[in-house]
Amino acid sequence: MRNFEKYASQLPIIPEVASRILSIGENNLDFSFKDLEEIISLDPMLTSRILKVANSALYARQKEITTLQMAIGLLGFKNIKSLVLLITASQFSRQFNSDPFFNDFWKHSIVTAFVVREIYNRNKDRVHQDIAFTLALLHDIGKVALFNSDPEAYRTVMKDAERGDGSSYCDLEEKYLGANHLEVGAEIMCLWHFPDIFADAAGLHGKRDMDSPDEAIIRNISIADYIAGKLGYGTEEEKRIDDPLSLLDGTDVDQADLDYFLREYEALMIEDPLFLECEKLFPGKVAL
Ligand SMILES: [Fe+2]
Repeated sequence: MRNFEKYASQLPIIPEVASRILSIGENNLDFSFKDLEEIISLDPMLTSRILKVANSALYARQKEITTLQMAIGLLGFKNIKSLVLLITASQFSRQFNSDPFFNDFWKHSIVTAFVVREIYNRNKDRVHQDIAFTLALLHDIGKVALFNSDPEAYRTVMKDAERGDGSSYCDLEEKYLGANHLEVGAEIMCLWHFPDIFADAAGLHGKRDMDSPDEAIIRNISIADYIAGKLGYGTEEEKRIDDPLSLLDGTDVDQADLDYFLREYEALMIEDPLFLECEKLFPGKVAL
């Protein structure tokens, strides 16, 4: 039997404050700024990072932002939620932060998240935009757990994948570590008590056949995963998909959208204020 707990234990426990904020439903209209402020203020590190962002040049206003209430009003609920996740996620790689694995991992995760957010933006779907961003950011989290459990073995997976003998990433992970990042990622989401959609996104992305009530959103994450790879932010496997057009099935992306993402989007993405914040959270890691 595979010991998923072993891999999951290689990740820091997601802080209580972050997990409470992330589990707030997209449509929870009863949830007020005041409640959000109360939760965030329990965590001094989060509070100071958020104040820093609010006072950064990007959001510069005439007067200094000194309270969380002002910061939340300025950045908005959705941006705050994304920031909380990014700040939390930036802690995961502290231990090995100089390793190139994390460099590639964060670049790939962040670009996938921005692409999927733009897919929803282009379809004027504001309801799913935010959750898709969060899911995409964490879709490959199983790789971090596998890497942390045995960095040497994971480097062999990466090397073999680069050499390309036809084995999939999951096959190589199973060969050298005994489990693949999809199943480990899904298990981590369950252990963190995240909603089912998180386990499905981590466990089913990239698959052609899936059985999930959230299939549509997961297919959009899969195409965003592919686009990120095509833009140069991905693993060998994502770069090598031979039949990308079949990935468009069941997504909100058509051929014209795909052209837009491959030719025009990157230049816009790197000017997005939130993207610039990512560069600060993961210093030197998203540099283009
Ligand atoms: Fe990915």
